[in-house]
Amino acid sequence: MSNNAKARVIGMGSYLPEKVLSNQDLEKLVDTSDEWIFSRTGMKERRIARDDEHASTMGAEAGRRALATAGKSADDVDLILVATMTPDYTSPSTAGLVQQMLSAKNAAAMDVQAMCSGYLYALTTAKAYIESGLYRCVLVVASEKMSSVVDYTDRNTCILFGDGASASVVTGEGAGLQVDTVSLGSDGSLAELIWIPGGGSRCPPSAEMLESGKHYFQMSGREVYKHAVRRMASTAQTCLDTAGVTADQISWVVPHQANLRIMEAITKSFVIPSERVYKTVHKYGNTSASGVAIALDDLTREHALSAGERVLLIAFGGGLTWGAMVLKQVEG
Ligand code: UT7
Repeated sequence: MSNNAKARVIGMGSYLPEKVLSNQDLEKLVDTSDEWIFSRTGMKERRIARDDEHASTMGAEAGRRALATAGKSADDVDLILVATMTPDYTSPSTAGLVQQMLSAKNAAAMDVQAMCSGYLYALTTAKAYIESGLYRCVLVVASEKMSSVVDYTDRNTCILFGDGASASVVTGEGAGLQVDTVSLGSDGSLAELIWIPGGGSRCPPSAEMLESGKHYFQMSGREVYKHAVRRMASTAQTCLDTAGVTADQISWVVPHQANLRIMEAITKSFVIPSERVYKTVHKYGNTSASGVAIALDDLTREHALSAGERVLLIAFGGGLTWGAMVLKQVEG
């Protein structure tokens, strides 16, 4: 492999838990309705992990499937990156657990924390490592067990989230989706708009912390909505400008699957027809870091991409963090 080879995703695989939590199920838990949830978010149902399924186990299964699709073995992997905001443990990393579950004995392993933007941040990290020549085969896993941090008595948040994982094998050669252009950003001054305030070193676990519910995911939905629309539209435009391509040269847009209305608003701003915006939000809800990756995997299984076709990924999450990426299908 030459050192100036461009990184590309040569195989993907996903894992969604079997258990379905529908809007009707949520009506029995909190004061809400199928009509409210669907009209405000576009969601119908989401998947929920079993008690014995974790970010690591779901991520490892997605990893096995991705390696099989790519025609690679666990021995080929020299770095595992796991994007998650719901790690099995505060320490050590979930990537280390995935390394052990896959018996990927030649791999280094670390987590990437960028909340819902995690997949784009991890894929960018993989790109940098591959293109520097330091690693040759990186397994990027995005895995979330959001049900473990959601308060199922809070109707503002519990209707939104689901669990699931997706993995991508990234190398510098072979047919796949080449990572052409990346645009990432962050604004830590707005950390408290989407967060889990308790359980870390600033507010360690205690009876008082549990009593106050600080271990649960909290979000100022209306504020976040405004930032999400603004940041996703602008980072996507920056990415297109950097790539030197116009919106009509993009075959598919795969945005963060947080809310159908947000997706419609951002794509309107740079004029992409709704039917070219790929959506899984109705069936999986918001699966945080894994959402864009699950949707991208779903897209490539439903629609074969020809060489030269481009896909635009757009993400937004807590931090705040955001990002966009232009991928181009290349031949081997
Ligand atoms: O993944 C990270 C990024 N996350 C996002 O991008 C999410 C961004 N935010 C959103 O998608 C939306 O803000 C939500 C879907 C979370 C909420 O939709 P909204 O249209 O912004 O509703 P709202 O928060 O302004 O609430 C409107 C009303 C409120 O009642 P009042 O105060 O107007 O009387 C809420 O109490 O709807 C009420 N409400 C509900 N009603 C029925 C809030 N949640 C529910 C519910 N069922 N589940």
